[in-house]
Amino acid sequence: MDLHILDHRLRVTSIAKKGLVDFTHPLIKLIFLRNRTRCKFFSLTETPENYTVVLDEEGFKELQPSEHLQVESSIWLPLNVVSNGNTSCSSQAVGVTKIAKSVIAPLAEQHVSVFMLSTYQTDFILVKEKDLSVVISTLEEEFNIFKEEGGESVPVHSQEVSNGLQKNGKEDIHPTVHPVLIPLNHFCVMSLDPDTLPAIATTLIDVLFYSSSHKDEGQSSSSESLDCIKFFSFSLIDGYISLVMDTEAQRRFPADLLFTSSSGELWRMVRIGGQPLGFDECGIVAQISQPLADSDISAYYISTFSFDHVLVSPYNFIVSNTDIAA
Ligand code: ARG
Repeated sequence: MDLHILDHRLRVTSIAKKGLVDFTHPLIKLIFLRNRTRCKFFSLTETPENYTVVLDEEGFKELQPSEHLQVESSIWLPLNVVSNGNTSCSSQAVGVTKIAKSVIAPLAEQHVSVFMLSTYQTDFILVKEKDLSVVISTLEEEFNIFKEEGGESVPVHSQEVSNGLQKNGKEDIHPTVHPVLIPLNHFCVMSLDPDTLPAIATTLIDVLFYSSSHKDEGQSSSSESLDCIKFFSFSLIDGYISLVMDTEAQRRFPADLLFTSSSGELWRMVRIGGQPLGFDECGIVAQISQPLADSDISAYYISTFSFDHVLVSPYNFIVSNTDIAA
């Protein structure tokens, strides 16, 4: 199997809800006006806490500094696993489950913190640029590793004299068990031909920028019921669009333009974290994805600025839930 280190240097940021008005102009450009920006990696996720924006340096230039913009200090690099027709892997599972044992667990053992972004098309594993030598030396046993540079894939190997390798011993890790929240909404993971983006523009603008304005008036959002949570994600990465939304938001879009996998599954969400998880702790994705992989249960995994979110099929829900509690 091949592992690609993609040619994007990413920033992980969050926009406070009340500061969104300061950013609608650049966000509209990044989402809808592809020929006006050189941004190639853009992801926006609304959660009850804030808007998480993950974007490359070209996109980041569009965001003006503001008291409402928090920027994680690291540069993050997206990794992507490409299976080259190797059928030895019998798993039918999709999402983070496919890479739990080969990528997520080994990185956690080496104390590498990751930030996960599953999309309709693929799963991006973001690692900090400063951890790259440890990442390469950890994963090169299992993968042919390539670095994408200006459209070319260049094979990479860890330098023999890298002191990255010595960084971490293989002592047992005892990951913190974070509280989880299981909202009642059902979610779908969808895609859209970028050429038809104009046809859903008004709905997307409404859902992204105005969704809470009618509900929140006279009512503070902290009193919002957590039976269902606000979660909406849009990403436009290397020309591919991915959307994650609940069935309520889905009903607002024209049914013929968004597409999902043939089985049209719905997903339940488990949100991980009571306090914001930060960016240095490792092993959170691993402790969630490992038991799912053991049972071959598909799962999408989306990290945001504050919390992690895993999507699993409702049919597997009881199983995965007890695994998490165990
Ligand atoms: N760094 C965590 C891990 O290695 C996952 C990301 C959690 N942090 C966050 N802000 N969502 O498992």
